[in-house]
Amino acid sequence: MSEYGLPQIVTEKVPGPKSRELLKRRDEAIPGALCGNTYPICIKRGDGAILEDLDGNRFLDWIGGVGVLNIGYSNQEVIEAVKEQSDKYFHTFFNVVVHEGYVKLAEKFNKLMPVRGEDKKTYFANSGAEADENAIKVAKAYTKRSHIICFSGAFHGRTNLTMALTAKKSYAIGMGPFPEGIYRADYPYMYRAPKGLEEGEAIQYYIDRLKKVINEETRPEDVAAVLMEPVQGEGGFIPAPIEYVKALRRFCDEHGILLIADEVQCGNCRTGKYFASEYWAEAGVAPDIIATAKSMGAGIPISAITASKEIMDAVIPGTIGGTYCGNPLAAQAALKTLEIMTRDDYAGKAAHIGEILMKEYGKMKEKYPVIGDVRGIGAMIGMEFVKDKESKEPYPEFVNGMIQTALQKGLLLENAGSAGNVIRFLAPLCITDEQLEMGLKIYEESILETMKKLNIKN
Ligand SMILES: Cc1ncc(COP(=O)(O)O)c(C=O)c1O
Repeated sequence: MSEYGLPQIVTEKVPGPKSRELLKRRDEAIPGALCGNTYPICIKRGDGAILEDLDGNRFLDWIGGVGVLNIGYSNQEVIEAVKEQSDKYFHTFFNVVVHEGYVKLAEKFNKLMPVRGEDKKTYFANSGAEADENAIKVAKAYTKRSHIICFSGAFHGRTNLTMALTAKKSYAIGMGPFPEGIYRADYPYMYRAPKGLEEGEAIQYYIDRLKKVINEETRPEDVAAVLMEPVQGEGGFIPAPIEYVKALRRFCDEHGILLIADEVQCGNCRTGKYFASEYWAEAGVAPDIIATAKSMGAGIPISAITASKEIMDAVIPGTIGGTYCGNPLAAQAALKTLEIMTRDDYAGKAAHIGEILMKEYGKMKEKYPVIGDVRGIGAMIGMEFVKDKESKEPYPEFVNGMIQTALQKGLLLENAGSAGNVIRFLAPLCITDEQLEMGLKIYEESILETMKKLNIKN
């Protein structure tokens, strides 16, 4: 049980005076682009799924550093592992001085990552965007092709290449020119498939769209890889149906195209498996390359790229790596995180949370006219808000109102989706049943209060 127990707001309003003071200093010292007003939260300490702000307010965090804190804030075992490493050395440049933590972590990931191939190799980077860029470098090196297929709704990061791969253009305003050779297919977003199609027909529709892009905007023989999030995160917590993945995998194999799974957000136990690609592998359609990050280091920056030896050894020396990649402190944090997640069955915890959420969210969907869809896998669950269930017109104003209402009650929520009309669940997986129950209570109260504020009748 978390030392902090349940959320509690002790100031008249959030933010309290100490947080207001720091926010003022932030606004003076830091670029405005990083100083949004949605979350006036300044942390003093975190514990499990709860954070305490400078004024003593305790929030139940359903954002978890946007999927970074699957094992929670300040895990004592990870703290000890990092402390122990820092007594020895902080850094080596891995190409020059080898440290065992890097090698050990790669060995563990080679066993764990459900990519195709018997023998695998892994290397490390620092962020999700870097992992995606590196996965693409590997695919280009192996196939000797240059084109990439990505998807509508995709989010892959904020470097030049990953901004180009990301669908939402508000992440890239004024930042071009971007690399050539990137083509976008429609992500299989079943809730928003053309009206009147049965599930199988909708999947076929999305496969036809993908083939059209590959055959008409480029040529299959020029495509190095298809880059896909098994469950879209930023795009609205949308799982790709397995029948779609099967057809996609078939098409890739027919044309020598690699399939890359971006597990930056959905990896590390979030979906009820260690990696969401395990669902693909169980269906016989494992990806060729996996890129992961976020919860892998429990908050210390580290990301990983894994593929078969054959694919990895096609990379020309000098084209991958970097100063901090696989840093010793980060490697120890990741090793300990992996040990904890495996030992304490974090995938099982995600499945348990998912069951509770789907049941409770399902009841809310029946009750409230603003909830269009509830979907997800494991504890990666999204709720999509609409103005009307028939037209499915997105309702981002409702989501914004709900976020602010919940925040004042001690629950941190974040939006997702191209229209910003989805609320995502990314709470630390160490959340207790009692905390989850309390969170669901605040969540439903926030729906009701927002409906009242917006004059929506039930
Ligand atoms: C699926 C996915 N890929 C890539 C990224 C980029 O990761 P980072 O912000 O660590 O560069 C994110 C971040 O949210 C993500 O969700």
